[in-house]
Amino acid sequence: MTEISAGVPDHAAGIDGRTALVTGAASGIGAACALRLAAAGARVRALDRDAAGLAALREKAGRLPGTVEEVVLDLTDLDAAEETAAGTDILVNNAGLQLVRPITDFPPEDFHTVLTVMLEAPFRLLRGALPHMYARGWGRVVNISSVHGLRASAFKSAYVTAKHGLEGLSKVAALEGAPHGVTSNCVSPGYVRTPLVEKQLADQAAAHGVPVAEVVGTVLLADSAVKRLVEPEEVAEAVAYLCGPYAASVTGTTLTMDGGWSAH
Ligand SMILES: NC(=O)c1ccc[n+]([C@@H]2O[C@H](COP(=O)([O-])OP(=O)(O)OC[C@H]3O[C@@H](n4cnc5c(N)ncnc54)[C@H](O)[C@@H]3O)[C@@H](O)[C@H]2O)c1
Repeated sequence: MTEISAGVPDHAAGIDGRTALVTGAASGIGAACALRLAAAGARVRALDRDAAGLAALREKAGRLPGTVEEVVLDLTDLDAAEETAAGTDILVNNAGLQLVRPITDFPPEDFHTVLTVMLEAPFRLLRGALPHMYARGWGRVVNISSVHGLRASAFKSAYVTAKHGLEGLSKVAALEGAPHGVTSNCVSPGYVRTPLVEKQLADQAAAHGVPVAEVVGTVLLADSAVKRLVEPEEVAEAVAYLCGPYAASVTGTTLTMDGGWSAH
């Protein structure tokens, strides 16, 4: 199923027929990943707490070669998360949330929620998914990290902490999974055009003391050499590559798509 063939390489070949669990699939990057993997023939289990968003995704998946099954779950239910990951060949840890506040004003309960959804849930999903991958001798784990897994920004203590932790968790999974044919990698974008970014514009404006209309140019893209937002489909294509046969030796690493931000 994952053989590399002669001719023009199809870097997503080998995804056909695999079961893929994508978290945070109702919106933004997760929705793009779910559609990309379904386009490559995967049986996608699309997980989110947003039932309406998942229903819309399934509509969009329409006539794609693969399928999209809705899994409505809040990932703060860690036991349920671990249980639902059983039988997964491809795990895309994507669900996330953002809160922009200085540490002195950051509500501890929000810090806890961000860490639970973005770090502890990926660990529990790995625990649920890895036994099946090991039994099959094949598996792909892709963690949607961020340039904030590699660099810090002010006012994002929980998010930066969670993403740095996810980068570490991903490397451990790579080392443990390698003897079993399982790879684990991060994709780490700069700012992507999704609701997560749109929702933080007002808070960023307040925290940095600039008008909302100037946030993208003066705050979000300040350190990016490429002066535009990344599109969700660009991230999904990187995920498809990491799930395909040409990435079998790519593990324990991070594919950054940050417009040159971390080149500084
Ligand atoms: N948008 C960006 O600029 C950007 C950049 C780098 C990394 N990322 C990462 O990409 C991932 C997806 O972000 P996005 O921009 O597509 O955001 P988004 O807000 O469009 O989508 C996030 C999804 O996660 C879901 N979610 C949040 N909490 C959940 C929970 N407790 N249980 C189940 N589902 C939950 C939401 O319902 C939503 O559908 C996140 O991990 C984010 O940190 C985003």
